[in-house]
Formats: sequence, C-alpha cells, structure tokens
Amino acid sequence: MEIFKTAAAIQGFALEQKRGGKRIGLVPTMGYLHEGHLSLVRRARELADVVIVSIFVNPTQFGPTEDLAKYPRDFERDCRLCAEHGVTAVFAPTPEAMYYPDHSVWVVEEQLSQGLCGARRPGHFRGVATVVAKLFNLTQPDVAVFGQKDAQQALVIRRMVRDLNFPIRIEVAPLVRDGDGLALSSRNRYLSEEERKRALVLSRSLWAAQAALRERKLEALDGVLAAIRYEIEQAGGRVDYVEGLDSETLQPPTAGTRKLLLLLAAYFGNTRLIDNQVVEL
Ligand code: PAJ
Repeated sequence: MEIFKTAAAIQGFALEQKRGGKRIGLVPTMGYLHEGHLSLVRRARELADVVIVSIFVNPTQFGPTEDLAKYPRDFERDCRLCAEHGVTAVFAPTPEAMYYPDHSVWVVEEQLSQGLCGARRPGHFRGVATVVAKLFNLTQPDVAVFGQKDAQQALVIRRMVRDLNFPIRIEVAPLVRDGDGLALSSRNRYLSEEERKRALVLSRSLWAAQAALRERKLEALDGVLAAIRYEIEQAGGRVDYVEGLDSETLQPPTAGTRKLLLLLAAYFGNTRLIDNQVVEL
C-alpha cells in the first residue's frame, strides 16, 4: 500500500492508474477509522480496481467553536487497517498541502444544505463540498463511496456531482451500527461510559418511530417526532434537531413521498451525535 502526502503525488498516481485502464474508487474520510469506514472500503473494492482512501481532518468544515483541534487521530492504526482491507493507496495531506494560504474558490450547494446540520453548523457543507471536489480532482475516481450515516452530506455530494457534471458515480453505503445500536462514529470515543449508555436512546427511539410510522403513516409524524424529542431529553440528551423529511428533497413530506427520512442530532455531554433512519411509507 502506498501513502501519499502531497496533491501533486496523489494526482500523478491517479492519472497514471487511469492511463493504465484502471477503475479508481475513492473513500473520503477524516480518519480514526471504524467498521463504518471499512464497510465503504469493501464496497469500493467491489466497484473499482484501485481503492484510494483519503484521511484528512478538513479544517474548512469545522466551525470556530467545534472540535477540529481535538478531533481523534491515529494515523498508524488507520494505515494498518487500510492495508489489511486491500486499500491500494492512502492520501493523507497536511492542511497546508490541501489549501493555499489565499485559497478563494468554494463550492456552495444552496438547497439541500440549508437545513438540519447546515443550519446548525454554518459553513459546514461549504467546507465539505469544497474538499470533496478537490479530492475528486486529485484522485480522479470513477466511483466514490459515502455513508448513509451522514445522509444530508451524501445528498449534497450527489447534487454537486449532478450540477457540476463530475463524471463520477456516487455510491451510498448503509449506516453501520455497533452491536448495541449506536451508530458508529469517530466521535463516539468522546463519550463516557454513562453517556454512551444514554445515547442508545437515539437508535431506540428511531426504531420505535419507524414502527409507528409504518403502522399509522404520515398523520402520525408530528406525534412521533415529539416522542423522539421527549425520549432523548428524558435520557439526559440535549436535542439539536429531530426532523422527518422527504428522503430525496429534504423538504417536508408530501402525498408523493415514498421514503421518509428521520434525522436527528443531539448532545450527550459535549459530544454531538447524529443518527437517521429511512422509513418506507
Ligand atoms: P468521516 O466522518 O470520517 O466519514 C467518512 C465517511 O464514512 C462518510 O461518507 C461517512 O458517512 C461514512 N461513515 C461514518 N460513519 C459511518 C457509519 N456508522 N456507517 C456508514 N458509514 C459511515 O464524512 C466525513 O468524514 C467528511 O465530511 C468527509 C466526507 C471526509 C469530507 O471531509
């Protein structure tokens, strides 16, 4: 497995692979890899000959009061996991290798990124879309794999690829949970044992909501969302948002909505967790 640290080196590698007729699969990550990330790597291996994993804690998607400096990192372990999972190359640039000091071009998605995490984290999706566009240009992927864990992010990236005509297939892989139901996240390591137990309310309340909506349909939505909020607060969490939206438009569901997306964000202690569940109506 090769490790690249500069833009020129990874782009040279990618272009060379393309000239050799290889299909490139990209899995963009911020590292501190877990089974959720590795499921994306497995998917990329099914879809491509060469798999590139990027590991970059992207400063432009963090707000000024967010956890950029203390975001968990373990580069050696990440590289070991990538090698064990058949990754061809890791791209791990420094912020200086990714951004010129006078970087001034941004990718801004103006619909899907407005609500939810976009409203709570101003500038977040501008940073995500911009770094992903850069990673696409640097690694020349035929296919890029994202996780349903970050459902809004996956929709924003799909829209960027559609609207800016990137010749890239976007694959969205299922959300991977721990045995107890907690959605896997690099940020779970911030949780105390106690907070982690409390946080199980997220998956539990989403599953209960799914069952209720399947039975009682959209008329039950307001009550179901209120129940999720109540259960999170009862468990000692602080609700950031709980919403039920059309899974394609992220707008309130209509009679035409086939799949409803329940999305939530909540704090346990200082740790902000997100989770979501698709409900087929
Ligand atoms: P990160 O949080 O490291 O996630 C990298 C990819 O792994 C994302 O596509 C995310 O949705 C996916 N992922 C994380 N947890 C998952 C889980 N439990 N199940 C399935 N997939 C999961 O998302 C980012 O990094 C960044 O915003 C990035 C796209 C790399 C841009 O900086």
